[in-house]
Parts: sequence; C-alpha cells; structure tokens
Amino acid sequence: MRIALASDHGGFEMKSHIKRHLEDRGFETLDLGTDSGEPVDYPAYGRACGEAVASGKADLGVACCGTGIGISIAANKVKGVRCALCSSVEMAEMAKRHNNANMLALGGRTLDPGAAAAITDAWLDAAFEGGRHGRRVGMLDDM
Ligand code: RB5
Repeated sequence: MRIALASDHGGFEMKSHIKRHLEDRGFETLDLGTDSGEPVDYPAYGRACGEAVASGKADLGVACCGTGIGISIAANKVKGVRCALCSSVEMAEMAKRHNNANMLALGGRTLDPGAAAAITDAWLDAAFEGGRHGRRVGMLDDM
C-alpha cells in the first residue's frame, strides 16, 4: 500500500509528522512536497496528490494545509478523488465506512500531531461498507 503525501507551507510540519507515522506503521509513502515552510500555493499540491491517487501511482493520499480546507478543495477537483477533510476520529472512520474516501485532508494549524495521527489511523483502519453507500459513491464518481 503506497500513500501519497502533499502539503503547502501551512501543512508542511504536519505532513512530515504523518509521513513518519505512516512509515513507522510500514506503509510506503510518495512525498510530493512541499519540502519546507517557504510559502507555496496549496492548489498545486492538492492537485498533485489527487492526480497520484486517481492515476494509481498511489493507493491513497493525505494532504495537509493550514486548515486542510484549500488543499481538500483542490484535490476534489480531480476526477475519481474523494478527499475528506477530517477533524475527529469519528469523521475519519465514517469517511471510509460510508464515503470510501481515497484521500484524507488534515489541518496543520488546527490539529495537534497526536490527534492527526489518530485521525489518520481511524481512516486507514476502517473498511468501506458498500451496499447503499456503494451506490452513492458511484453517483459521486459519475459527476
Ligand atoms: C496558507 O496561508 C493557508 O491559506 C493555507 O495553508 C490553507 O489553510 C488554505 O486553505
């Protein structure tokens, strides 16, 4: 399982933390930048992460900006991406169980690193329920 990671400057430290966490858990990571706290534009990084997931270069993606909002909007512009901005373990679990989210967005300035790791784990460890949720996710993918 390969997980793509991307962030702007506001999410750079969070991305670095989540990357270490994922590698500690044994996941392969694909780091698409940014590589420092120097200001960059989040749309480019959300798009890059979304395209990595949509093309199959990565199985899943995690994207971070200051709030997670801008980078999730950018990722969701890529067809086939279902990026969920989550600020709790409950949201993250449901994002997989009901929405089969293939990307997670996290706020580097709104979450502490421990909470972000727990949110990431909840999303990774949950399973899509299919059934009626499969029909709804199919409707999303048709848009
Ligand atoms: C950058 O200052 C900030 O706007 C960005 O990281 C993000 O929070 C946008 O949604």
